[in-house]
Amino acid sequence: EKDQYVLGIETSCDETAAAIIKNGREIVANVVASQIESHKRFGGVVPEIASRHHVEQLTIVFEEAMQNAELKFEDLSAIAVTEGPGLVGALLTGVNAAKALAFAHNIPLVGVHHIAGHIYANRLIKELEFPLLALVVSGGHTELVYMKEHGSFEVIGETLDDAAGEAYDKVARTLGLPYPGGPHIDRLAHEGNPSIDLPRAWLGEGSFDFSFSGLKSAVINTLHNAKQKDIELDPKDVAASFQASVIDVLVTKTGYAVDKYKVKQLLVAGGVAANKGLRAALEKEFATREGLELIIPPLSLCTDNAAMIAAAGSVLYDKGVRSDLALNANPGLEL
Ligand code: KG4
Ligand code: ZN
Repeated sequence: EKDQYVLGIETSCDETAAAIIKNGREIVANVVASQIESHKRFGGVVPEIASRHHVEQLTIVFEEAMQNAELKFEDLSAIAVTEGPGLVGALLTGVNAAKALAFAHNIPLVGVHHIAGHIYANRLIKELEFPLLALVVSGGHTELVYMKEHGSFEVIGETLDDAAGEAYDKVARTLGLPYPGGPHIDRLAHEGNPSIDLPRAWLGEGSFDFSFSGLKSAVINTLHNAKQKDIELDPKDVAASFQASVIDVLVTKTGYAVDKYKVKQLLVAGGVAANKGLRAALEKEFATREGLELIIPPLSLCTDNAAMIAAAGSVLYDKGVRSDLALNANPGLEL
């Protein structure tokens, strides 16, 4: 049997990434060019700048991946590319690059949903067993996804307003921390005490939905009120209290879902899954539950990368999914 190599391309936000996965699960190349330094001074991702960087970096990143893998075009079984959701201009650069390569070298093309990619990062760690539940926590998404088989995604709960990562970044900004703020809050939280009382949005019994905008506003109000009364709040305690609220809600709701859906595995996905506090809380709550396997990818596979896109693309390719050259960027693509 010939080995299957899938090239993945990811450009949905501010990382230009190319990777090659062997037989669905083995990383043979994984190259990520981050643009964070270029966006930092604006306090967030500037779409126009993101697109321009992708155009500059794509060829470099892709060639490096092919060199690292020591592969030729004829070795590739498929090219998988993020078609959405994300920034439309950023997505277009990756989609067009993938289409050009697929057309020029006559290689099958597979469009991949960015969140499916985040979920499939877990398959680079462990073979998936169904049914499973994925907790997706990224800059743009907060979702609980139920999967009964490969390629089947049922969103059983999602955020009604801000995504978890978005809340992290906004609170960080209020505290004067650089973009992206998640890792900075994470670091401060470990040095502080969760001494400030902040709300938790449970949204009614049995709800698997999330809401983080109220928490974000509560943090802003708390800081504002303290300032008015000339009270010094330690940013470490603010970070710790905010993080405690986010983790409490994420872990509790995930627990309800694990029980209700009787899943064999719990996967964790997305940039916020890099959070040390969240990882520790998930380990504590789920690592020793009988009949449940907890998978948390290493940090480099939690934040945006192309290995996860190739991993998801490999499964879709095996299922017979193909995209044609009419494939387009879809910023609002549904899972
Ligand atoms: O998945 P991702 O790389 O990009 C999207 O698809 O959105 O997630 C980026 C998000 C940002 O909001 C960033 O602040 C957050 O993940 N993040 C973290 C941590 N590392 C990254 N949030 C909390 N703690 C972290 N350690
Ligand atoms: Zn992402």
